[in-house]
Amino acid sequence: MSTNKDKLVIFDTTLRDGEQSPGASMTKDEKIRIARMLERMRVDVIEAGFAIASPGDFEAVQAVAEAVKDSRVCSLARAVGPDIIRAGEALKNANASRIHTFIATSPIHMKYKLQMEPEDVLRQAVEAVKTARQFTDDVEFSLEDGSRSEPEFMYRIIEAVINAGAGTINIPDTVGYGEPGEYGAMFKRVIESVPNSDKAIFSTHCHNDLGLAVANSLSAVMNGVRQVECTINGLGERAGNASLEEIVMAVRTRQDLYPVETQIDATHIVPTSRMVSSITGFPVQPNKAIVGANAFAHESGIHQDGVLKHRETYEIMRAQDVGWGHNRLVLGKHSGRAAVRARYEELGIHFEDAGEFQLIFERFKELADKKHEIFDEDLHSLVAGVEAPVEHFQLEDLEVRSKIGTLPQAHIRLLIEGESHRAEAYGSGPVDATFKAIESIADSKAELKLYSVNAVTQGTDSQGTVTVRLERDGRLVNGVGADTDILVASAQAYLDALNLLASGERKKKGV
Ligand code: KIV
Ligand code: ZN
Repeated sequence: MSTNKDKLVIFDTTLRDGEQSPGASMTKDEKIRIARMLERMRVDVIEAGFAIASPGDFEAVQAVAEAVKDSRVCSLARAVGPDIIRAGEALKNANASRIHTFIATSPIHMKYKLQMEPEDVLRQAVEAVKTARQFTDDVEFSLEDGSRSEPEFMYRIIEAVINAGAGTINIPDTVGYGEPGEYGAMFKRVIESVPNSDKAIFSTHCHNDLGLAVANSLSAVMNGVRQVECTINGLGERAGNASLEEIVMAVRTRQDLYPVETQIDATHIVPTSRMVSSITGFPVQPNKAIVGANAFAHESGIHQDGVLKHRETYEIMRAQDVGWGHNRLVLGKHSGRAAVRARYEELGIHFEDAGEFQLIFERFKELADKKHEIFDEDLHSLVAGVEAPVEHFQLEDLEVRSKIGTLPQAHIRLLIEGESHRAEAYGSGPVDATFKAIESIADSKAELKLYSVNAVTQGTDSQGTVTVRLERDGRLVNGVGADTDILVASAQAYLDALNLLASGERKKKGV
């Protein structure tokens, strides 16, 4: 790291704001896996969740706080005592913790949502920061809907919360309304107008409703901001948040422009992106900057010729610097337990429980029998779904007949609590027939909300990862299946989703 640049703090909120994307909910174990990858990537702050939101969120923040040692772990809390106390409890065992407390400051939010007077909002913000300081000396305060707040009010509230002990001041563009020039200028004015602004780090948190989240964040950096809140793959509420990989690589690639540098180890970007995508079931679009499959693919002859003659004619970054090419052939059917476990360790995936590793190793062997080359992506997809809490429905057999001009037909055999059940169904396509056959046994009353297929690696023997999102009684679950046979992967994903619904039911009934 050179010395003449300021540090840009990378605050990742994939596990909190990212998880707020409809259908992107993650289990505690999945959150730990992602948090470990973020830690390896050297993310400064990991926002692990919103501790008061549910017992599951509390446990996830607590577990991430215990698992992660090198990054600071943060919990979100509204600016009210119970939220802050809960966040403090969840972070108790963290090596380094942060409480991130927020309240809305825009006229529209204060009047209609909070139904509070600005002076009461200011008082509550100060109280919240003081309460949070009783749990940790690292407190962040966010002015929700800050980009639509009155400047004079913002200056007063920021000065007051800094005096109360907030070390980071975040002014989010909560609704994605900001424009780069205007949003950057807002930070410049705030930093110049708040008398104690030198006592805090200013932070940006941008949503992507107008596709400007990264541009707005970078404009803020140009105007004095030294923390960016962002997510892997730009996951987040509605159109998402600023994408971590784009922020990090923009700052790194344009060192001639940006007066900052990050401590991120960018070679972990692509594997982390893959992991987040396989856990959430949100595919990465092929033309997505940095992590999309085509991000470094030159199709046009003129480009290929140029790149071969001199790489920098058309390439501004090297694919391997962001972790492409790390999916080299690593293992095969002759690889033993130690090699598989070691590769998982290198990928940041630890198995504390011997039974869990055994299950993965068996899946690995099955896959290696079908597919010669086992890539890192395959290893990630093998662990996707490993923590499925109950296997109420298990796939015993599947046969699908499909012929041009006839309706496809699926024959399925499911094992339910030790008993075999068979069914057959026709469908408009082979996947439709498979799902109908499953439903004729399961009769789940769930609604199919999303079906997506992704090839994990290249080639026709690639594993397909299928995500199936089901909704029942307002509960959304994502089932994931991976197999070299896309129909088997589809059936597995559907059953995984049914199992998640069933495990929710069991928990409710206390079984
Ligand atoms: O978008 C937003 O304003 C937020 C805050 C809670 C930081 O997510
Ligand atoms: Zn947000």
